[in-house]
Amino acid sequence: MKIVFATGNKDKLREINEISQGSGIEFILPEAGFNPVEDGLTFEENSYKKAKEAVRVSHKMSLADDSGLCVDALNGAPGLYSARYAGTQQEKINKILKELEGVSDRSAKFVCVMTLLDENGEILHVSKGECKGEIAEHQSGVNGFGYDPVFVVENYGKTMAEMSEDEKNQISHRGRALTDMLNFIRTLH
Ligand code: IMP
Repeated sequence: MKIVFATGNKDKLREINEISQGSGIEFILPEAGFNPVEDGLTFEENSYKKAKEAVRVSHKMSLADDSGLCVDALNGAPGLYSARYAGTQQEKINKILKELEGVSDRSAKFVCVMTLLDENGEILHVSKGECKGEIAEHQSGVNGFGYDPVFVVENYGKTMAEMSEDEKNQISHRGRALTDMLNFIRTLH
């Protein structure tokens, strides 16, 4: 079964297909012209907007995700704006570390919401995954992407960037949201 995954990012597509291996489901890129506007006020709204745009160009069942890092001491920031918080990834990490200088409550979570639409744009299922942890004092690890080097996973005592891809997929917000979504998709056929 082929389902459009609403992204222009081939690495994300590869990661999603890796987690889905053996499920009989293959995710493919949207048709040309995919250009989502992420101006929603929640992860739910943005994932819906992305999936709707994928249905518009592809006319097929489409799945989208929206994710971000929410830091308690920053009132949930960067949250929806995680991708646009600063210029480069390193600048984003530096900004978080600076904002948390001297702050003792460093608790944070990654959130991922996925929305599945049918070929007419009707909602079939929404899933959500969270991964709790805290922001380290210093970055460590070279794997993964984004804020991984400063996110220490609860009960693991290491950053996401110190985990293998497999290990991260087992406990990550995206891995959890996708597991729930795949369970739903299996009920469709
Ligand atoms: P989006 O879901 O593609 O809109 O991306 C949201 C942003 O959140 C990314 O650009 C990253 O900065 C951050 N983010 C989301 N998931 C992760 C993750 O697993 N590790 C590190 N950063 C992440």
